[in-house]
Amino acid sequence: LISSPGVMIDLTSGTLTGDVVESEKRLKDLAGVFVNESLRARMDPATIIYRVQTHVAEKEGMEGGLFYGTSFVYPGLVGDEYFMTKGHFHSKIDRAEYYWCIQGEGMLILMDIHGKCWAEKMVAGSLHYISGYIAHRIANTGRSLLAVGACWPSDAGHDYKTITDKGFMARLRKIDGVPQLIPVR
Ligand code: F6R
Ligand code: ZN
Repeated sequence: LISSPGVMIDLTSGTLTGDVVESEKRLKDLAGVFVNESLRARMDPATIIYRVQTHVAEKEGMEGGLFYGTSFVYPGLVGDEYFMTKGHFHSKIDRAEYYWCIQGEGMLILMDIHGKCWAEKMVAGSLHYISGYIAHRIANTGRSLLAVGACWPSDAGHDYKTITDKGFMARLRKIDGVPQLIPVR
């Protein structure tokens, strides 16, 4: 009647062990994601930008379920733009999500369906509610690994195409040594 946990999360690092699906994105997988695409294409393609560990508790697309994931974004820059995730709207665009920062320093970059962008600072312990209709991505603004926990509906899905086609309308750039959210063009 009593079972042991099938998944463990290390509360200081965010690392999951057990029933977990792993994925990673290297620079070669991120064509067109950074403003300076020609520089990205000239950098080492094997450079790891982020990894995600997901506990897939339900079938993808199942209504009413939840997923958990820890995202790890590495420190670094493409020119003056911080290493970051691709970012997405949810395919079921009204689906919301919680993010919380476990370790490191970062920024949650948000964009509404009209292209208006804003950002929230992430530090260990910060909790971020992302309502539906809002695209989201995370950038590492620190010198160490950024780990962010996330919980989202298992029927949310991911719409990357809208971001691939149009991009975020503002970019997080290191200017005078500090992160600034700069409108594109
Ligand atoms: C799930 C979610 C996160 C991201 C992860 C990687 O809805 O928002 O788990 O999937 O941070 O970012 P993307 O998916 O944009 O490559
Ligand atoms: Zn999401």
